[in-house]
Amino acid sequence: MIVAIDGPAGSGKTTIAKLLAKHLAVSYLDTGATYRALTLKALETNTDLKDSKTLAQLAEHLNIEFKDKKTYLDGKDVSAEIRMPIIDKNISIIVSYPEVRSVMVELQRNLSKNADFVVEGRDITTVVFPDAKFKFYLDANPEVRAQRRFKELAEKGVKIDFKELTKDLNKRDDADKNRKVGALTISHDAIVIDTSNLTIDEVVHKMISHIISSNQ
Ligand code: DC
Repeated sequence: MIVAIDGPAGSGKTTIAKLLAKHLAVSYLDTGATYRALTLKALETNTDLKDSKTLAQLAEHLNIEFKDKKTYLDGKDVSAEIRMPIIDKNISIIVSYPEVRSVMVELQRNLSKNADFVVEGRDITTVVFPDAKFKFYLDANPEVRAQRRFKELAEKGVKIDFKELTKDLNKRDDADKNRKVGALTISHDAIVIDTSNLTIDEVVHKMISHIISSNQ
């Protein structure tokens, strides 16, 4: 069984998807982390970010593992590193290339085979798992999303100007919604939840209620 979740940055997706997976006692895959790890690898290897062919090759050989709630790249724990603003600044171009995305979609399908999974990202309900049993689209207004991201970074000790963060978030939103392949869209059969004025637990509760009622 796959529970597919899409939504923009700051919609609460990651926190909610993790909690939902815990409640359902299934595994969890953050596909954003796979693109973030690829971006880190590209920066570490000084790959030209305009060279989509080399980036796709890098993706083919991406040595990524998820263990004990941590992300490992080439055997090294990169969980904190992949959340840094430098990754946010460079990721949009990398995730825009169709040849990179097709490799990454295969990787994501492989990572979530042989078990029940909650999988979250931008194109999970539409491209990665269009036949998922349950589909959700989480949203929140842009101001709430920027505040959440700001708080998340502050908690990690990362200082960033709020205006700059809002600008970057809007830029990423635009790029996510307007790319040619794997764009962020609301799947016609997804349940849409606006999380702006809901607590994490309220959202998870809504999702579980939906899963239980449609399983009956
Ligand atoms: O969810 P996130 O903020 O960690 O995602 C990081 C970037 O990766 C974001 O700009 C969108 C992109 N992404 C994507 O294009 N497709 C996915 N399935 C997941 C993330």
